[in-house]
Amino acid sequence: MPANNNKSNKPWREAVEEVMHHATEAEALARFGKRKPSFNYRWEHVTAVVTLANKLAELTGADREVVEAAAWLHDVRKEAKEKHPQEGAKFARKFLPKTDFPAEKIEAVAQAIEAHMGLWLDAPLTNLEAQVLWDADKLAKIGLTAVFHFTGNVLAKGKPMTTDDLILYGRDADWQTKTVASMHTEPARRAAAARLEAYNKLWESLEGELRGDDLDGNR
Ligand SMILES: [Fe+2]
Ligand SMILES: [Fe+2]
Repeated sequence: MPANNNKSNKPWREAVEEVMHHATEAEALARFGKRKPSFNYRWEHVTAVVTLANKLAELTGADREVVEAAAWLHDVRKEAKEKHPQEGAKFARKFLPKTDFPAEKIEAVAQAIEAHMGLWLDAPLTNLEAQVLWDADKLAKIGLTAVFHFTGNVLAKGKPMTTDDLILYGRDADWQTKTVASMHTEPARRAAAARLEAYNKLWESLEGELRGDDLDGNR
């Protein structure tokens, strides 16, 4: 049975990637005054989320098409700030029918996007595809990924920044413990705990290097 009869419509993977890339450039223009900053944080973030979401879908049995489309589009309306999940969901409902994405799965994509808000949750999400998107999005915001994405973003802004500033910011991230505790799926929970450990270790090691602890055999 064919998944979709809209054969004349654009292949959905190509379409969501293109529209998301365009959205990240619009965001960069608004934030940095240029479409092509030296580091496009949003693009780096979204492509990381897509990779993690696809892998988590495989591991958990979540619907791969729903999860991938939701991952590509979850931050497509980021300029709407705290309303961006709802606005992103609206966007998906309008945009996906113009592609060959299976029509019967569009609402599930929109609902996953709608539910992705917050760095931690008081009550867990109940739908598997929404859980996978939430976990993938938050996994991409913690651990070593966070260090490199944050640093790239700061440098792209062109603001003065010292190593001490980066350490201060990096150390001020208690929320990550709550993020780890909010993970839904078992593989994400395990990875999140390991990422947080690596993150804390990195700052410790960096501070040790800057102090020269390794010169007198204290490390
Ligand atoms: Fe978001
Ligand atoms: Fe995101």
